[in-house]
Amino acid sequence: MNQLGKPFLQIISLLLGLLALATALVAMVGGIVLISSAGIQLPSLKNTNPETSLQTEVAEVKPKYLEDPAGMWVAPDWSKVELEPNAEEIKYGRDLIANTAEYLGPNGKVRKMSNGLNCQNCHLQAGTVPLGNNYSAVASTYPKVRSRSGKSEDIPKRINDCFERSLNGGTLESDSKEMIAMVAYMNWVGKDVPKGEKPKGVGLYEVPLLDRAADPEKGKSIYINQCQSCHGPEGQGLAKQDGSGYIYPPLWGSNSYNQGAGLFRLSRFAGYVRANMPLGATFENPLISDEEAWDVAAYVNSMERPSKDLSQDWPDISKKPMDHPFGPYSDSFPEVQHKFGPFKPITEAKSKSE
Ligand code: HEC
Ligand code: HEC
Repeated sequence: MNQLGKPFLQIISLLLGLLALATALVAMVGGIVLISSAGIQLPSLKNTNPETSLQTEVAEVKPKYLEDPAGMWVAPDWSKVELEPNAEEIKYGRDLIANTAEYLGPNGKVRKMSNGLNCQNCHLQAGTVPLGNNYSAVASTYPKVRSRSGKSEDIPKRINDCFERSLNGGTLESDSKEMIAMVAYMNWVGKDVPKGEKPKGVGLYEVPLLDRAADPEKGKSIYINQCQSCHGPEGQGLAKQDGSGYIYPPLWGSNSYNQGAGLFRLSRFAGYVRANMPLGATFENPLISDEEAWDVAAYVNSMERPSKDLSQDWPDISKKPMDHPFGPYSDSFPEVQHKFGPFKPITEAKSKSE
């Protein structure tokens, strides 16, 4: 070994040692990541009581979804629509529901008759999403008597209800090309549901009632943290450059749904949001809790929005839903409780009187 060789060799073996150490570290970290992504619980150091540690493990393993996906309604296959004799109508109907503002909004190319929302902003993916306010049971359950009007309503009447309330606009004639197309589309969406039935996953998720009133103050911070980035600091949404509608629809203010709309009821808003918002949430992968859904509903529905003459609604006041925020009522709870809750005393009083 010469004078230069010795330190050189020492450096080499040092480097080799370091390399081995680094490899071992990478392997360890990789192993941990693998184990945790495979869903295996690493032992927790905190919990020493075997009973409670078992409970927390069960809670963590439990899937997040709001309802068991087994047997959930699935919309018919859109790629087969061409097989229908009225395929052109159905396709126009879907287009109207997805891009309502473009056809019928403030600058609509067919008619100017609504506020710039699309039906699909609330009836997600043209009403085909389980618990996304879908149209699965429209064909199977209409015409039906609705207690809001006290009358029998057919599909065109129900569609016009959403135009006048959720889209704060006018109505379409039953024999207009647009109405015929939307009805054709809804009949197609619900074609596999037997008459009179409502499939699993119809409409909206029913959020369990809280023991307290929903709190607009708590809702405000949820809004700021989870909703404002898209729906805007003033709830105004984000309009498209060409004025043909919205990228992010408004949640309050003059271009939003009016006080007669379904979403103005806290339970409808909370149910929609719990399973579908912030954007990306689904019933299988919800992103906010029950409480957050109620509180953010209370905040948004405390803000300014268009009013509507509701004097003809709920002719039988005993049929008003627990969260219809305008009296008179057949019970003695005040308007503020019918708006924010707590709702349990209201539903309990109702079930006793029936
Ligand atoms: C701002 C939200 C919103 C918009 C926009 C909206 N709707 Fe609705 N719609 C609702 C809510 C909420 C309900 C009631 C859901 C419930 O009570 O479970 C509803 C119910 C319906 C129903 C009855 C569903 C059933 O199973 O009974 C039909 C049909 C309907 N909407 C059609 C439309 C059409 C067509 C448009 C566009 C012109 C539209 N909606 C736009 C919120 C909206
Ligand atoms: C990443 C953007 C984004 C975030 C964050 C978000 N939303 Fe939305 N929201 C949307 C979009 C986009 C739609 C319309 C969906 C469609 O047309 O498919 C929508 C629709 C809605 C609607 C129905 C349409 C209307 O204007 O009335 C409500 C209600 C709503 N969001 C509430 C919320 C709430 C409450 C939060 C926070 C918990 C939230 N959103 C967070 C993007 C977002």
